[in-house]
Amino acid sequence: MFSTSIVFQILVRPCSNGEGVFFYPQSPKARSIVGKRYRTDYHFQPPKNWINDPCGMKISGIHKKEEESQHCISHIVFIKISGSMYYNGVYHEFYQYNPNGSYNPNISYNIVWGHSVSMDLINWINLEPAIEPDTPSDISGCWTGSATILSGDQPIIIYTGLLDIQKHQVQNIALPKNRSDPYLREWTKAHNNPVIQPVVPGLNSSQFRDPTTGWIGPDGLWRIAVGAELNGYSAALLYKSEDFLNWTRVEHPLYSSNSSNMWECLDFFAVLPGSGGGLDLSSAIPNGAKHVLKVSMNCTDDMYMIGVYDLKRDAFVPDTVLDDSRLWPRIDYGNFYASKSFFDSKHGRRIIWAWSSETDSSSDDVAKGWAGIHSIPRTIWLDSHGKQLLQWPVEEIESLRTNEINHQALELKKGDLFEIKGIETLQADVEIDFELTSINDADPFDPSWLFDTEKHCREAGASVHGGIGPFGFVILASDNMEEHTDVHFRVYKSQQNYMVLMCSDLRRSSLRPGLYTPAYGGFFEFDFEKERKISLRTLIDRSAVESFGGGGRVCIMARVYPVALVDDIGCAHMYAFNNGSATVIVPQLRAWSMRRAQASV
Ligand code: FRU
Repeated sequence: MFSTSIVFQILVRPCSNGEGVFFYPQSPKARSIVGKRYRTDYHFQPPKNWINDPCGMKISGIHKKEEESQHCISHIVFIKISGSMYYNGVYHEFYQYNPNGSYNPNISYNIVWGHSVSMDLINWINLEPAIEPDTPSDISGCWTGSATILSGDQPIIIYTGLLDIQKHQVQNIALPKNRSDPYLREWTKAHNNPVIQPVVPGLNSSQFRDPTTGWIGPDGLWRIAVGAELNGYSAALLYKSEDFLNWTRVEHPLYSSNSSNMWECLDFFAVLPGSGGGLDLSSAIPNGAKHVLKVSMNCTDDMYMIGVYDLKRDAFVPDTVLDDSRLWPRIDYGNFYASKSFFDSKHGRRIIWAWSSETDSSSDDVAKGWAGIHSIPRTIWLDSHGKQLLQWPVEEIESLRTNEINHQALELKKGDLFEIKGIETLQADVEIDFELTSINDADPFDPSWLFDTEKHCREAGASVHGGIGPFGFVILASDNMEEHTDVHFRVYKSQQNYMVLMCSDLRRSSLRPGLYTPAYGGFFEFDFEKERKISLRTLIDRSAVESFGGGGRVCIMARVYPVALVDDIGCAHMYAFNNGSATVIVPQLRAWSMRRAQASV
């Protein structure tokens, strides 16, 4: 066991701005080198290029804490997922892709549908773009949409077309040219495109996009939802069709809300409480199933509501309506946006993933020649109470594990730091269970923290002692801890139960200036009597740090660019630590180096 005194002295050294928010001085050693080593080795990304994000222009307003536009520029990025499907033994991934380079100032004009295929969701083959802007109904860009498999085994894509630089939007259809091509390389556009026009009173025609996967209603007709700004509010507009080519709008939306003025990248799916298996929205939905409406808003947040699909009213009815959307649960509390899910008929599960943007500068993106990755595909299901979605990396990722190390029954007293050695710390999969020895020291929970968990994570960092926690994991740490990223927990006593805070703190992740380095955070409920243990799994892949807390109750995707990673590949340390008064036991710690996937070639 190591003493943390030196380390935590370093952790607490930064000066405070007087409001409990730490500012860390930039080291003179900080440099602008863009390392090849930031490129991930098992998260999906195409071989090269940059994907611009129409959200980028709005991002300054979104990252309210980031006054400087620098981060906004760097957030302009990524491979946004346009749709995924499993068809005839092959997984297809379609994504928003800029074929012209890693930097493009024309936000989202001429963006295409990139296309990659895989047999296992981990190793990918990069193909020619599936859909490109070459007709009047998509001449300024082929934006996000979804794939559906119609009865009779017919894959079909519905996507948003951009008509002009004013960004007027319509919905279009594309079909595979040759269904017997196992990779479905070529797609043709329907003759009657656009199949849906923005002819709805009160609709903002430049905020009308990202159609969902289709589902069949009780009348046997196909349905899709399209995100829209309707009279200044967010709406999931509902459309019906017999043949997927001719669509009629249902007068009322599937759901609408004044939570924001626009929802992007809607996702609507069914889940069965307590069942790890997924459901196909177009098949018979069993009794007791719930429905989930996922919305992407503010250019940063993928939020969801759980409820029922009222077949009589043809409308989604959430179980709980929280007026303040800051309290809505999120698919992921980190850098994870525009997520899409699909039903994987091969394994009977639902898979979700999202794009995770670079948080360095746009000039770094040019130097790197790439920008944007996908999260690891995650299985998603509903807990047995029907209240919370849970996620876990698809088991196929375990095929990349090598070189296992294992520790049992570690005791972490206040201030202890245990170095995890023997694996490749830049590319690893680490699972740690933290068992609480008692709950008496839990500090009281303040519900107002729920409104801004990032603020609470900034205030209650890894160096701030607590009753139970912080305990967790320090990764990508340089020899002297000048650079490190930590993922940690705290347990609080609320009125009814206990609440666990999970933070992924990037504030000291790099000495390079100009990066976006927040302290992400989310809360989950914890039943001490039943559970006693809190699990953490973190996938480290160079510039990607993807964490799953409490068995997938809170997930946090993050991007980091340590200087040490550029300088010296061997110097990133990894530790388990405890900085709370109560001792925690680590009954089991397992970690693996991760091999390279054919994900980025
Ligand atoms: C999500 C999004 C979508 C749009 C696409 C364009 O980030 O804004 O709403 O279709 O990006 O690239």
